[in-house]
This record gives sequence, C-alpha cells and structure tokens, in this order.
Amino acid sequence: MSASESKTELRLGLAGLGTVGSGVVKMIQDTQDLLQERTGSVISVVAATARDKKKDRGFSMDGMTWHESAVDVATDPNVNVFVELIGGSDGPALDSVRAALMNGKHVVTANKALIALHGSEFAQLADDHNVALNYEASVAGGIPIIKSLREGLVINQVKRIFGILNGTCNYILSVMEETGRAFDDVLKDAQDLGYAEADPSFDIGGIDAAHKLAILTSLAYGCEVDFDSIYIEGIETISAHDIAMAKELGYRIKLLGIAEKSDAGISQRVHPCFVKLDRPIANVSDVTNAVVVDTDYLGRLVLEGPGAGQFPTASAVIADIADIARGVTQPVFMKPARDLKPGAAIAMDQHVGEYYIRLTARDKPGVMAEITQDLADEGVSIETIIQRGAEGVENVPIILVTHKCQESVMNRALQRIAAHDAIVRPPRMIRIEDV
Ligand SMILES: NC(=O)c1ccc[n+]([C@@H]2O[C@H](COP(=O)([O-])OP(=O)(O)OC[C@H]3O[C@@H](n4cnc5c(N)ncnc54)[C@H](OP(=O)(O)O)[C@@H]3O)[C@@H](O)[C@H]2O)c1
Repeated sequence: MSASESKTELRLGLAGLGTVGSGVVKMIQDTQDLLQERTGSVISVVAATARDKKKDRGFSMDGMTWHESAVDVATDPNVNVFVELIGGSDGPALDSVRAALMNGKHVVTANKALIALHGSEFAQLADDHNVALNYEASVAGGIPIIKSLREGLVINQVKRIFGILNGTCNYILSVMEETGRAFDDVLKDAQDLGYAEADPSFDIGGIDAAHKLAILTSLAYGCEVDFDSIYIEGIETISAHDIAMAKELGYRIKLLGIAEKSDAGISQRVHPCFVKLDRPIANVSDVTNAVVVDTDYLGRLVLEGPGAGQFPTASAVIADIADIARGVTQPVFMKPARDLKPGAAIAMDQHVGEYYIRLTARDKPGVMAEITQDLADEGVSIETIIQRGAEGVENVPIILVTHKCQESVMNRALQRIAAHDAIVRPPRMIRIEDV
C-alpha cells in the first residue's frame, strides 16, 4: 500500500511481543471501535513473531499468522504495515526493517538504537518506496516529541534541544539524592524494581540517551543521524558526595542529552550536569523523562511524561500506526532524505562552560596553593573553593567551581593538578549547565 492509496484496512505484522509488543496487541484489541472511529480504518494484527511461539502473552492470537522470523513477517504479502518491537541495532530488527521498506511496507518502530545507527539509510529507503517510517516511541517513550518536532515545529529553527532521556539514570540520581545512598546500591534497587536491565551498561553509561539524542538532533537540524559524533559520559562515577555538594551549591545533578547549533556546527553531548535547582528540568524526578526545545518563533517548548513502560510506549506506537491509517506521512527526518547532509560536528574540547571539580588530596600544607597556581597558569578562574578537613583524616575532598572556560583548557589544568603527589585520585569534573 503506498501513502496515497486507500487507508481503509491496516494489516499489521508485529515482530516482537515482549513488553511493548504485547502492550500494542492488547491496546489494539481493547480499543478496536475507538481506533476505527478515530482513524476511519480497520486496524488488526494479521501476522506476528517472537522467540517463543508457546509463551502465554495474555492475549488471543486468533487471526494472526505466526512466522518463524521477523523478515518473514516483514515480507508477508498480507501485511501492509510492519511494526518492529524486538530491539537492537542489528540482527533481526535491522534485517526486517530493511526488508519491509524495500518491499514497500510502512514501518513503525520503537527501536532507538536502530534509528540512531541506520536512520539515514532507512530515510532514503522510505522515500524511495514512498512509505512512512514512524518511530515516536523510540525517544522518551510516550512523550510525543517526534511529532512535535516533525510537525508542530516545522517552521521553527531549533537553537538547542535537551532533555532527561533515560528514566533509569534519572531514577538512580533521584534516589541517591533522597536517601544519600551510593550509586551501586541504588542501581541494584533499580534492577530489582525492573527499572534497569540485568546488563545496565547502555542506560548508566549514557548510550541509550545518546541513541535518542542522535534522533532528536537529526530532526531538530534536518541533518543525517550522527551517533558517532556524540560525546558520551554516564553516571557511574557520580558519588553521594557530589550529589550532596550539588545541593549545597544550589544545583541538582541530572544526566542530560544536549544538542546545540552554532555557526561552527552542531554539538551533541550526553553527560551528567549540574542544573540550578529552580529550573524546571531539575525538578523532573524518578523515571520521568522531559525534553526542552528552544526555538526562534515558538520560544521554549517543554514536554514531560513517562519515558517508558508498556502502555505509555504502546500508546506512542499506536499513534504512529494511526497516522498511517489517516494517510499522514512526514519526511523521516524533517526534510526529504536526499537533502539530508552530515552536520558539522563540534568536538567536546571546544565546549565552553563552568565546571564543578572534586579533588581528593592528602591533607598537607601547600596543596591548595599548588592547585590554584595550576588553574591560574592555564587561565581558569575560580568562583568557589571548599575544603573541609577533619581531625585525623588523611585524605580530604577539595571542591572547586570555576567560571566559564574552554574544556580543552580545563582538561589541561586538571592534568597538571592530577600530577601532584598530594592528589590521590583522578580529579572528577562535572559540567555546570545553564538550562
Ligand atoms: N520497554 C519499554 O518501556 C520501551 C520504551 C521505549 C522503547 N522501547 C523499545 O521497544 C523495543 C522493544 O522493547 P521491549 O521492552 O518490548 O523488549 P522485550 O520485552 O525484551 O521484548 C522483545 C521481544 O522481541 C522478541 N525477540 C527477541 N529476539 C527475537 C528474534 N530473534 N526474532 C523475533 N523476535 C525476537 C522477544 O521474544 P520472546 O517474547 O519470545 O522472548 C520479545 O517478544 C526496543 O527497541 C526498546 O528499546 C521499549
């Protein structure tokens, strides 16, 4: 079915019937009448696959053809919309989405890793075959940020887009602040509660947030998706002490994904940030996600809501399906694929900002003088220094807050500081973000 044909019957093929896939089937089965009323189309799941055919998924599979592979679902002649809900940037997800597009089927996916790494190729395939590629659920789960960028902000220039894009990290940071507990301890809780995967490295290492940022950047600036240019730092090294110090200094630590455009190009970065306590994004807590878009005509748009979960995510997937039913198709990344160009990436060492520095030093005379001399020699000026020694304690934390400087300069200064015998651990640096 091409975008211009009749949209009276959508025959969905689903690959992946896990958390999101099951949610999509249940919602479609439960809301048949409403869905038909609102889209004017009959929408049903006619084919599906997952790993385990025998698993009880809590819904009826009547009327669905079971296939042994995702590619078979994607190429089933009875399917006119392929819905990929397996996950992963390669293997069956990649093969099946490619096959569906090449076979002229509309595609809906919630897979950020796949779009972040193959989005530009898919955009070209979708345009070549005159089909839709919708991926609302891939960024910030249920929050309609893709629709807002692709449609609502079509005539706005985005100056900066940033957000809390990973609920697991936001949960861990929130609980660390509330309880004063250590990172590892809270991560274990998050795993027990099902907020973090058994292998949490993509979440806590910032990679999941970076996948989402790559997609937002491409939409915001109408450029090719460029995951490899993103500077990525996770939250693993944030200590309870950093969190307490942030609060004392009037900040809260958040893992943000930030994309900004300047005359020099586009910077994309994911890292923990000190954010002033009175800023709206500082008050987005637990697993909630938020995205802020600063634009020229509209001004600031703030969207906040559930970034994951079965039904919030399924709701976004079904909104994408409903768009196809209504005949609404948009360019995959804001403009026709042939016009997408690589954005000029700005390296992280060009970043200019204020910094929070935590040093651990032997409590002996002259240390502070050496540190301040290194900073002065490199031209870094200090806004605040806090040193709290205690009787009989050998190593003491020294906290510095700098004025604005370039990151390459900051790094040079930290290298010099780290070389002193009295500095017993590598310096820890957290960027202060004016959001
Ligand atoms: N969960 C969320 O809240 C959320 C939010 C936003 C986006 N997403 C995205 O949505 C996608 C799905 O996530 P999920 O949480 O639903 O994952 P999930 O619960 O792990 O489900 C994955 C599904 O894929 C099936 N599968 C795995 N390997 C397969 C293969 N080789 N061939 C066919 N099917 C295969 C699994 O089969 P079995 O069931 O038989 O094991 C399962 O049904 C991912 O891209 C994820 O990033 C998830």
